[in-house]
Amino acid sequence: MYRFLCMVVGGLSIAGCMQESVETPVAPATETDSNMAAPPAAAQLELSGVDAYQQVCASCHEKGLNGAPKTGDPKAWSGRSTQWEAVLFNHAKSGYMDMPAKGGKPELSDRSVVAAAEYMLSITYPDRPAN
Ligand code: HEC
Repeated sequence: MYRFLCMVVGGLSIAGCMQESVETPVAPATETDSNMAAPPAAAQLELSGVDAYQQVCASCHEKGLNGAPKTGDPKAWSGRSTQWEAVLFNHAKSGYMDMPAKGGKPELSDRSVVAAAEYMLSITYPDRPAN
């Protein structure tokens, strides 16, 4: 009915009619959880866990730089999230305190970051149950 009126009234109330069309609901931009990583567009680099770890993460985690939990040292990891991997992996993707998101390499894909974190944990906890 409203549309019909718009057509009839024509030029007079065109602003109102246009507004209606402007407000056509657009699918809401996928709401990104604040824990989510950078937009996928930035993530292009696919690396295996070992490669990603060695190229991106090792510089800090091999030696424990800036307080980074050292790979291979279970004690350094023991105080970390009790929710364990899901949270740790989110931190790896989005950053956490002195830990830069994706180890400071935004083009690294989420999958590669998680693979690298898994690799790190598998060295630290060789006996941990497999996922
Ligand atoms: C520039 C140095 C640096 C690089 C590179 C880096 N990290 Fe870290 N990372 C840190 C520091 C520092 C912390 C400790 C953060 C804190 O607790 O303050 C940390 C913590 C973490 C944690 C534990 C987070 C938590 O919730 O306790 C994970 C998991 C992690 N890093 C994974 C990675 C992965 C995977 C990579 C490579 C993709 C990586 N890091 C690269 C410095 C780095």
